[in-house]
Amino acid sequence: MTEINDTNITRRDFLKTAWSVIGGITALEAGALAIAYMQPRLAEGEFGGVLTIGAVEDFPPGSVTHITDGRFYLTRFEDGGFVAIYQRCTHLGCSVPWEQTENMFICPCHNSQFTSDGDVLNPPAPRPLDLFAVSIEEGIVKVDTGNLIVRDQFDPAHVAYAAQENE
Ligand code: FES
Repeated sequence: MTEINDTNITRRDFLKTAWSVIGGITALEAGALAIAYMQPRLAEGEFGGVLTIGAVEDFPPGSVTHITDGRFYLTRFEDGGFVAIYQRCTHLGCSVPWEQTENMFICPCHNSQFTSDGDVLNPPAPRPLDLFAVSIEEGIVKVDTGNLIVRDQFDPAHVAYAAQENE
């Protein structure tokens, strides 16, 4: 009689444990699916990821080129350095066009003005236009639109050079 009770208790414990394990695995799978669902889906070359822009020589020194898909301007300085300037105004977020004839960015919303490297010439913008990191790999310009660089002033450390210009 005692042996039968022990067996029943053991079977019950086994089933409880089995159901707990199955429930735990199911909960883990559901959690993993939820996390995967919430992850941003960025294909390479889309805004929010790393964009391959083109060859260094495609951008003459002293030029400002609007990269529409990347929502930024690629400025190449006279010394050959590059910065990628996010087009969003640091005042209230309007898109800021480059005005070639004026040689500056002029925000259409409240008339903030910025130099070709994004520094403020005229407020109300409280700080320079933000940047994205530029890298140059084997003569190809790449911009990481997933990492915004917020700055208070121009910093030469944010300028990227092709290998031969940096030496
Ligand atoms: S949003 Fe650009 S100046 Fe106000």
